[in-house]
Amino acid sequence: MQILDGKQTAEQIKAEIADEVNRIKARGGKVPHLAAILVGNDGASETYVANKVLDCKQVGFDSTLIRLPADITEQALLDHIQQLNENSDIDGFIVQVPLPKHIDETRVTLAISPAKDVDGFSPASVGRMCLALPTFISATPNGVMELLKRYQIETAGKHCVVVGRSNIVGTPMSILMSRNSNPGNATVTLVHSRTPNMADICRTADILIVAIGKPDFVTGDMVKDGAVVIDVGITRVADASKASGFRLTGDVHFESVKTKCSFITPVPGGVGPMTRASLLQNTLKAQALRDQL
Ligand code: GUN
Repeated sequence: MQILDGKQTAEQIKAEIADEVNRIKARGGKVPHLAAILVGNDGASETYVANKVLDCKQVGFDSTLIRLPADITEQALLDHIQQLNENSDIDGFIVQVPLPKHIDETRVTLAISPAKDVDGFSPASVGRMCLALPTFISATPNGVMELLKRYQIETAGKHCVVVGRSNIVGTPMSILMSRNSNPGNATVTLVHSRTPNMADICRTADILIVAIGKPDFVTGDMVKDGAVVIDVGITRVADASKASGFRLTGDVHFESVKTKCSFITPVPGGVGPMTRASLLQNTLKAQALRDQL
């Protein structure tokens, strides 16, 4: 079994981006500028956004964090989004989710200009991804594809089972793995909470991508010998032995799966850092895509 080291791969990607920023600066160009809107103070979201700002610093991007109160009205949030759409200094921006219950996430994603939608969550971006047109591919699926590519994992003709059908991960993952590209060209099955015989289907996977948000959901008996296992899950599980009071747990039961698979992503240090690196890749791409979207 070999670890797919997302941490190391992400560092490599960040070094490549930092080199590109230096080249931009050397020719007197504009350094990419990412903005993030954080509504309220959900603990996990605070950490994610703080890390995104740190990542920008590391590669030499400009960044702006806009913090808004949890009780902000939907209209006031939409006004902030409109300002970012119109601000030519901002190349791309994200609105961290989940949002407070009184705000309609679909309205929010629809309000983000497709040219600045570096999360790739807007209907326009998702539609363009489905048609393989130039666009932003959302960070987690893009990070998984990048990891498969850099480890030269053969995907063509393989059976890929995606567990989970979220808009952010499972659904785009299934489209990317099936499309005519490398990585891609896999035969894809997407399973979800209403799928009978899920374990049987998982056992037929050459590549198993798990994004269901349930800690330790996939166990060794659900994995074929030699499968490639990608664990997208990252749940905070209470753990009194940790200073933080929690540990991060994937959707895959690592100990029982590691003896069966050929490759596996650890949690933490697998898909998470790749997601962060992908957002930087998308922000860099924003300048190139500006005139195409
Ligand atoms: N919440 C969890 N993951 C993400 C992400 O990739 N982008 C945004 N905007 N919110 C998230």
